[in-house]
Amino acid sequence: MERIEEARMLLAGSAVLVLTGAGISAESGVPTFRGAGGLWKQFRAEDLATAEAFARDPRLVWEWYGWRRGLVASCRPNPGHRALARWMLSRPGVTLVTQNVDALHERAAREAATALGVAPDPAYPIRLHGSIHHVRCTTCDFRAEHDGPVDATSVDTLPRCPHCEGLYRPDVVWFGESLPDAALAAAMAAAERADTCLVIGTAGAVQPAAGLAQAVARHGALVVLDPGATAFDDIADVKLTGAAGALLPKLL
Ligand code: APR
Repeated sequence: MERIEEARMLLAGSAVLVLTGAGISAESGVPTFRGAGGLWKQFRAEDLATAEAFARDPRLVWEWYGWRRGLVASCRPNPGHRALARWMLSRPGVTLVTQNVDALHERAAREAATALGVAPDPAYPIRLHGSIHHVRCTTCDFRAEHDGPVDATSVDTLPRCPHCEGLYRPDVVWFGESLPDAALAAAMAAAERADTCLVIGTAGAVQPAAGLAQAVARHGALVVLDPGATAFDDIADVKLTGAAGALLPKLL
């Protein structure tokens, strides 16, 4: 049987957990982290994506996130994001958990919901690593949506909290930091309920995100979609080798 047919049958089950990583946004022009040309190749993660780096040089860290925001703002959801968003609206029992902070799933969901004349699901997707369009005050913990360009020419021009003048930081999870409790709890509950996990565009190098797929594989089925090798390949029931933008519209 065609692999994609086999995958389709596994996904027809009642509850599905979809776990996505940077790979689903690659065809939108957002660089991945560990692939060729990946972000961590150009920058050292320790220099940019840690609380220590921010304490040491908030201007440099905001310069990098401001650049990423600008890059993402010029990108559009690709057919992979859109196929997922439509599929989610077409059937119950699917939970999307993403490691991405680029908000392309949210944009695809808004477009799909508008096309159907329904309201987008505010819980879609569960964001394990936060969003670069949200900030958190480093003094009073106030959180807010915060989009658009960031003036990182000096510490004095960096975004600040309107309540206490504290420095805002991107509300994303940095190396060594714990994930947002509510998001992780919702993702783990979805993994417990899931009959099948569909993993798209993640190398599986980072926990606890990768552990969600591994948990489903222990009691259910695992479908992996990726053009390259991933940490899930040896426990996958079906491996679809290819790009998300090309395969997801066919699969879903
Ligand atoms: N379609 C599907 N998958 C793709 C595509 C594509 N067009 N292009 C690349 N990929 C795959 C790569 O083969 C790789 O397996 O996407 C995966 C990207 O893996 P990573 O770059 O490691 O990204 P990710 O797994 O999301 O990283 C997880 O690590 O750096 C932290 O917090 C950061 O959320 C990130 C986490």
